[in-house]
Amino acid sequence: MHTSIKDLIHKTPLLTEVTAKGWVRTFRSNRFIALNDGSTAQNIQCVVDFEKFPETLLKRITTGACLAVKGVLVESQGKGQAVEIEVVQMDVLGDSDPEKYPIQPKKHSLEFLRENAHLRVRTQTFSAVMRVRAALAFAVHEYFRKNGFFYVNTPIITGSDAEGAGEMFRVSVLDPKNPPLDDTGNVNYDEDFFGKETNLTVSGQLEAETYAMGLSKVYTFGPTFRAENSNTSRHLAEFWMIEPEMAFFELADNMDLAEDFIKYVVQYAVENCAEDIDFLESRLLDEEKTKPQEERSDLKLKEKLNFVIENQFKRVSYTEAIDILKNSKPNKKKKFKYIIEAWGADLQSEHERFLVEKHFQCPVILFDYPAKIKAFYMRLNEDQKTVRAMDILFPGIGEIVGGSQREERLEVLQQKIADLGINEKELWWYLDLRRYGTCVHSGFGLGFERLVQFVTGMGNIRDVIPYPRTPKNAEF
Ligand code: 4AD
Ligand code: MG
Repeated sequence: MHTSIKDLIHKTPLLTEVTAKGWVRTFRSNRFIALNDGSTAQNIQCVVDFEKFPETLLKRITTGACLAVKGVLVESQGKGQAVEIEVVQMDVLGDSDPEKYPIQPKKHSLEFLRENAHLRVRTQTFSAVMRVRAALAFAVHEYFRKNGFFYVNTPIITGSDAEGAGEMFRVSVLDPKNPPLDDTGNVNYDEDFFGKETNLTVSGQLEAETYAMGLSKVYTFGPTFRAENSNTSRHLAEFWMIEPEMAFFELADNMDLAEDFIKYVVQYAVENCAEDIDFLESRLLDEEKTKPQEERSDLKLKEKLNFVIENQFKRVSYTEAIDILKNSKPNKKKKFKYIIEAWGADLQSEHERFLVEKHFQCPVILFDYPAKIKAFYMRLNEDQKTVRAMDILFPGIGEIVGGSQREERLEVLQQKIADLGINEKELWWYLDLRRYGTCVHSGFGLGFERLVQFVTGMGNIRDVIPYPRTPKNAEF
């Protein structure tokens, strides 16, 4: 049996005979192999007495090759590591061509690594990001489990458009060249696999609501799909969303939960991924040096994470936010791409980031948005103009959470659906919740990749998911 490099470094007694398996990061002076298996950020140094091994074998120890190394774990003679392996036996499990292997022991651009996404997890940066991602996913489940929530799996293929934004990927088995047509000449989806039009889900919320009306507190954590043509560093066509839904929660309870939840998972990462976060912080510092002074962040990564854990999120109504934005310097000097002129304007990410990064300088929860710019299911306020919505805005990210108290009154919801021209028949089951034992309830959605971006400090969302799906890109 072999031992993981993590256990070799942290758990194995000195002078034990051990076997390590992993991929060669570097081989220096025909003597020092830095071997990595991804179990930890650290490599294990394997010291080779080259006189004891044939030239033909040494030649095969190249960057990217997969090795099994047997030897004795000893205290390291050199600097930079506590222990090393004095190699007795080496087997090349998988050769690599050093001329062609794309991941060389030098700094590669993130763009280059995206093109080699099948190999990028073998770099220090991506293995760190993916370990943090895995830890955060675990923390999500742990948080909800500890707080009495049940994990539900909502469908990925659905007939409804939960957000009403029409940004869906169609799911169909009809022949695109020769689809069956109905009397009016339109594609006849009655003949499709499900006998109706279906698409990939944009959100599990509506189905999660049905389960909250029986289990009280539930959450989903699954893939969601949006066919929006947004080529930004914060949008994916396929991303993972966490959506808790709670019976008997009003908007304020919803905000309390969201804040507590985010703090918990960030704290979990800080405590359990210290080594990776240290590395990511130093990576970020190097990156910052290449930016102009005014774009550099004042806080280091760990300071930013601790800031979020330690400080209360600022709660601000949409109306207040509009006043602040209207009177802000970038608005008056027309520095914003979208100038805020009046109440009712939709907020763009430049406005969200201004509020968080410049004005309040802390995470912000905006609430009570105009009904017109939010989804149909949000609860209408007494003023008949605003809805009980809340968005959480984060530094460097913009919107990380979107949620609301739900409209639980049947007539009000029916009116809203009619006004928006949504077909009520499609939502018969959703409306049933309001017919049979309706109650106040709330929920929100957290974009998992945006959370991973925040915790790892990665600037582009394509670098925090193994295989990003974006417009014109579905390689791998
Ligand atoms: O604000 P959104 O669209 O809200 C919903 O889908 C609700 N049904 C959630 C709920 O109340 N249960 O999306 C929620 C979050 C956003 O705040 C953002 O973090 C993330 O999902 N998100 C995306 N992340 C990556 N790429 C995209 N294209 C995203 N669109 C939304
Ligand atoms: Mg939103």
